[in-house]
Amino acid sequence: MTEHLTIVDHPLLQHKLTLMRERDTPTAVFRQLLREISHLLAYEVTRNLPVTMKTIETPLVEMEAPTLRGKKLALISILRAGNGLLDGVLDLIPSARVGFVGLYRDEATLKPVQYYFKVPSELESRVVIAVDPMLATGNSSAAAIDLLKEAGAKDIRFLCLLAAPEGVARMKEAHPDVPIITAALDDRLNDKGYILPGLGDAGDRMFGTK
Ligand code: URA
Repeated sequence: MTEHLTIVDHPLLQHKLTLMRERDTPTAVFRQLLREISHLLAYEVTRNLPVTMKTIETPLVEMEAPTLRGKKLALISILRAGNGLLDGVLDLIPSARVGFVGLYRDEATLKPVQYYFKVPSELESRVVIAVDPMLATGNSSAAAIDLLKEAGAKDIRFLCLLAAPEGVARMKEAHPDVPIITAALDDRLNDKGYILPGLGDAGDRMFGTK
């Protein structure tokens, strides 16, 4: 991937995103829409995966047919909201290996602190797709990517639903080699770090918590 930021401007996806943004969309519908949007985002983030040819037999003839090359992809969910995107991406790439990164914000230092980290082996030879619906300040996303690089990952892509310009700038500064694929680039963050216009707290809306 060459572009640092890709906005997936597909009418179907944008329609579903509008429904997700609406305040009164119920939890079950929100979750289902996220799953459906994940399919369209997964299609885009995997667009340039390397393929190789192999000989197969159709019921009629032998042919050379394309197949994905290399090790299974690694999908990394940034907890907890990442799990909502993860499910849909897994629908499309069921054989992917899956990892989880958990970070919380230390209220004294305001820095992200790791509380969970479990990722597939041999990250260095896999395409790694980190998923988190909301790229807001970019601090936890950048920290998660730091951890993935420390674990050996080299080809990392960041998949989100909404991005704020502040988060995109932070990621570009910290990880210019990591392309971001998103459904929309919103206006800005408010003083609590929420994306505007946004959709609220993605985790709460997805899991029905407050
Ligand atoms: N995380 C969310 O869930 N929503 C935002 O608007 C920002 C960060």
